Amino acid sequence: MAWITKNSGSATVARRDEPYLTDEMKAKAEREILPRFPTKQAATIPLLHEIQHAYNWIPMQAIEELAAYLELSASQVLDTATFYEEFFLEPRGEYTVWVCRSISCELMGQDKILRAAQDKLGIEPGQTTPDGKFTLMHVECLGSCGTAPCALVGEKLHECLTPESFAKILDETK
Ligand code: FES
Repeated sequence: MAWITKNSGSATVARRDEPYLTDEMKAKAEREILPRFPTKQAATIPLLHEIQHAYNWIPMQAIEELAAYLELSASQVLDTATFYEEFFLEPRGEYTVWVCRSISCELMGQDKILRAAQDKLGIEPGQTTPDGKFTLMHVECLGSCGTAPCALVGEKLHECLTPESFAKILDETK
């Protein structure tokens, strides 16, 4: 087996003047998030969620700002962010379509639901439509196994799907 390595030594970070991790976000973190954890560093994941919720993705500059705030290295925060496919380090579509592929949905035909989404959107899992409207993801259990097969469109859960009902939902979302 060969390891494929990427040379990131010459990578540049796109920057903007104003910070992503704003004073308001820090104030909210200190008020509502940090008190729930034994250390500041333990709040890395909820703060990544805060940033992603605010911008719909997590720019590298935001990783650096969060690392400085949590007194971690940028690589530690980046390690955490890249471990979870739910964090987006590139801009994604306005709506993320999450099709469940875990056991209950698999038994109930998730492959047909995914195919309906691929046909309707013209993209593969991990891709974004050219108009920036949808990003398609194929993910593990969405926690609604009793109503499989299911998928999220944005933050809305759709249950007991058929290929036809899902295509209609995507049409209506467009
Ligand atoms: S297996 Fe699909 S929601 Fe749990």
